[in-house]
Amino acid sequence: MRIRVYLDDRWGFTEQFTEELTAKEYAGDLREVRLPHTCKETPLHYFDESIYQMVSGYRRILNAPKDWEGKRIVLTFDGVGHACRVFLNGEQVGEHHCGYTAFHVELTGKLRLGEENVLAVEVDSRETLNEPPFGFVIDYMTFGGIYRDADLDVYEEAYLEDVFVSTVQITGHRVRSRVKINSQDPFMQHSESGSQNEEKPAYVIRQFLRKKDQGEYVYVGEKKATSDADSEKTKKRASRFGGEDGIFCATDVDADGREELGEIELWDIDHPALYQLKTQLFQGERLLDERIDAFGFRSAKFRRDGFYLNGKKVKIRGLNRHQSYPYVGYAAPKSLQVNDAEILKYELGVNAVRTSHYPQSHYFLDRCDELGLLVFTEMPGWQHIGDAAWKDQAVRNVQDMILQYRNHPSIIIWGVRINESVDDDEFYARTNALAHRLDPTRQTGGVRAIKKSHLLEDVYTYNEFVHEGNNRGCEPKKVVTSDVTKPYLITEHNGHMFPTKAYDNEDKRVEHALRHANVMEAVGAQEDIAGCFGWCMFDYNTHKDFGSGDRICYHGVMDAFRNPKLAAAVYASQQDETPVLVPSSSMDIGEHPGCNRGLTYLFTNADSVKMYKNGEFVREYQANDTPYPNLPHGPLVVDDFVGDVLETKEGMKPSQARDVKKLLNTVARVGLNKLPMDAKLTAAKLIAVDHMDFDQATVLYNKYVGDWGGTSTAYRFDAIKSGKVVKTVEKQPMHAMALSCKADHAELVEDQTYDMAAIRIEMQDEFGNLLSFCNDPVTFEVSGEIELVGPGIVSLQGGMTGCYVRTIGKSGTGKLTVKALGCSEVTMDFTVRT
Ligand code: GAL
Repeated sequence: MRIRVYLDDRWGFTEQFTEELTAKEYAGDLREVRLPHTCKETPLHYFDESIYQMVSGYRRILNAPKDWEGKRIVLTFDGVGHACRVFLNGEQVGEHHCGYTAFHVELTGKLRLGEENVLAVEVDSRETLNEPPFGFVIDYMTFGGIYRDADLDVYEEAYLEDVFVSTVQITGHRVRSRVKINSQDPFMQHSESGSQNEEKPAYVIRQFLRKKDQGEYVYVGEKKATSDADSEKTKKRASRFGGEDGIFCATDVDADGREELGEIELWDIDHPALYQLKTQLFQGERLLDERIDAFGFRSAKFRRDGFYLNGKKVKIRGLNRHQSYPYVGYAAPKSLQVNDAEILKYELGVNAVRTSHYPQSHYFLDRCDELGLLVFTEMPGWQHIGDAAWKDQAVRNVQDMILQYRNHPSIIIWGVRINESVDDDEFYARTNALAHRLDPTRQTGGVRAIKKSHLLEDVYTYNEFVHEGNNRGCEPKKVVTSDVTKPYLITEHNGHMFPTKAYDNEDKRVEHALRHANVMEAVGAQEDIAGCFGWCMFDYNTHKDFGSGDRICYHGVMDAFRNPKLAAAVYASQQDETPVLVPSSSMDIGEHPGCNRGLTYLFTNADSVKMYKNGEFVREYQANDTPYPNLPHGPLVVDDFVGDVLETKEGMKPSQARDVKKLLNTVARVGLNKLPMDAKLTAAKLIAVDHMDFDQATVLYNKYVGDWGGTSTAYRFDAIKSGKVVKTVEKQPMHAMALSCKADHAELVEDQTYDMAAIRIEMQDEFGNLLSFCNDPVTFEVSGEIELVGPGIVSLQGGMTGCYVRTIGKSGTGKLTVKALGCSEVTMDFTVRT
């Protein structure tokens, strides 16, 4: 049976690789590091991307016990940025040329058993490499290092190298598995009719099913594995695994009618039921290997008129995600990956994510499987297509991506085109054919920025940047696609069209939010667009050619620490699980040019929102009044700051009150100088018919609309759902500041490697409102069994920042103290289990 040895700990690291490092005698001074590891910790912004471009070296002692004699030993690296060579005891044993896919190196026969072995890795993170995504400019930093896990699997002489599980049909709940056995035994000549060698009976696989983590496994059948290398069947089966050597078999199991499994549940967005297929490999009665693969029963299909999950139409509402983090670049352990998936699902309320522009951590994908998030995963690359060798590597990347990720039920489509590259029919015919061969269950897309380009894929996937704030949100499908009979999906919108910082003026932040709403509204209105992915989930480090000059693209609906900007509320309010109510304004009129407040929006998923001013009811806004009818929960427009007081307190008759109210609200919104004609006519009527004068109007304005002098104005908004107040927001002048510090988790666990908590920090007023223009310094101090990642002093940006703490291999407790000027410090407690 297989044994897994984790190799994340006890690596020595140097920023400069030398051949000596690979030798046993090496006596240099290396810094001890743990994986995931970034070859360079970077500042938050304003740094030169050349600092992480280097040829670094990693070195580790590998003890190989004598009882591994006769075993197969396979080393796996989940992600090394970006090209690497692997050495064992001075000899090169492997190499890999993609920073975003895993790779294996078989060490059988090379490892010295009963001895210390030296494992060394030369890691090249220079952007001059001739492999994707390199070759021209790239709008994201490509951080380096051994940035995902590494481990060693010790197998018997044959093992289950791969099991591809897929749903063939959701009716009958038929699951198909394609199994690849890796056997080195030269005498194993299995045929359909059985083994030709009496002493070495044929391999047999036995399979079991259960609902994930629930109850006992149920036996579902067994099958003999054959290896007639020349048979058509074997060739076909082999081709599903990239055409390599192996022994193959396939099984179809109907899960229906197996009483012990109960009623089979489908995997979908709201109820992502997962199952586990346990596959055992036997030779005679000897159990050689066993593996468990999680999967879901589901069908996912893009059709001409949209996307269908299990036969039901679903509008895709997603965001793009890079895999980078402040300071550590790509080197984020499991909990941070899981956290991003949870933020997307629970906080941002999206139903889909595009892993732009490369395959991302399996921890992230596993969590998407568990949460019911739909995923678009694509081959690494950005706009540039290189030479023949580069293209061959790109095709290999497609193969690795599909072989390594195809069991994730969350993945609904493969991106098999270099993001936003030009047409290259020969190249993309190869990637498409390969994708369809390796995974006949999924459609392909290929992200382009050109209209009516050659469509070799199943779905026209397009980055749609037509929206500029005051025009349509997107163009009709027929204007964009070359074949309207094919499905159409928008893979990016917004982003560079309107970069927005958390500390930008309110008007800008509101426009940023509305632009996202506008595109989703337009997509919602067009039945034949399968959905859209906004650009993007959070601000990310980028190269000098992009972003705001500080090496950040401020394209996120969150900042780099995953703190929400206003635009996040547009997404968050589309879900129904958690009540959301975010007014777009701080209600400070002085923040706007001429003190004209413009329109205020309420991002909410409530049935209605009641607005009060100084405790007096002003108006109730109904969900149906939204100007965004094609969003599940469109924003509401606040346009009344007066309410009924003109009648109730000033004793005006209804028609006069209506006219005065309209005038006061219009003046508050646009100012006197820009009054539209109908407001001017209303003013004339009030003078002529109701005998009002300018002074009277000014008094009323100051009393009911202008927010200065006298008692300060307190606004309250109550979100109402099914007749109950589910959320309240109060806005009034702040008197005290308070730090809000939230850790994604406080019980840290050292498992395969260190654990890391993400802490999100906001400066708030006494009502919990973000103080958007607080850019004060914040300091961090840690004690106990944790360490701080990043600097000990940072500035709030737009009232927000963050930090990370990491375990150091010891169990116990840790404390993080966060201090800022003018408010109480916050101490956070962590526990660490090892
Ligand atoms: C797209 C590109 C993304 C990002 C985005 C910014 O063209 O695919 O990677 O650069 O623009 O809006």
